[in-house]
Amino acid sequence: MKRMRIALIAHDVKKDDLVAFVARHGEFLCDCDLVATRTTGGRLNKAFEFSVAKVSSGPLGGDLQIAAQLADGMISAVFFLRDPLTPMAHEVDIMALLRLCDVYNIPCATNLASAELVISGLEAGRVRRGRSAGPQHLHVRLRSNAGEIREHDVSGKDAACVLDVLDQGM
Ligand code: PGA
Repeated sequence: MKRMRIALIAHDVKKDDLVAFVARHGEFLCDCDLVATRTTGGRLNKAFEFSVAKVSSGPLGGDLQIAAQLADGMISAVFFLRDPLTPMAHEVDIMALLRLCDVYNIPCATNLASAELVISGLEAGRVRRGRSAGPQHLHVRLRSNAGEIREHDVSGKDAACVLDVLDQGM
């Protein structure tokens, strides 16, 4: 099963919140590939045993490096705890990252409340994927664009593939 790659970024006043968030969801996140901007990643690497890959610091292009990974299809979700009260020199970079999340329909949480909702969706998806590893038998009903309905029985690996596709469409 492919590991999810998740981007973690926090502005300075939000870094403690992000560390606490990662601690709350460590069991899920330690099964993901994590990438962070430099200072955020440094904080996380100090706090946790699992390792977080680092790009440059946000003000030095790190948000854009994460945006580039996202445009290459490598990022499944972005948790970006922003400081809404301080003007940032790299505001345009931040906007570029958020815009690409919208372009590619990638879940992106910019505050803790939405971060909790997004991660609970991802965690629920993992439970569904976990189930797909076992023996499965599915009855699938497909409707073509023309409205024609076809029913199929699928089992074993094919059933796991169907569940993976459903997860990706989450
Ligand atoms: P930092 O960058 O993790 O290097 O502090 C975050 C940002 O400002 O975008």
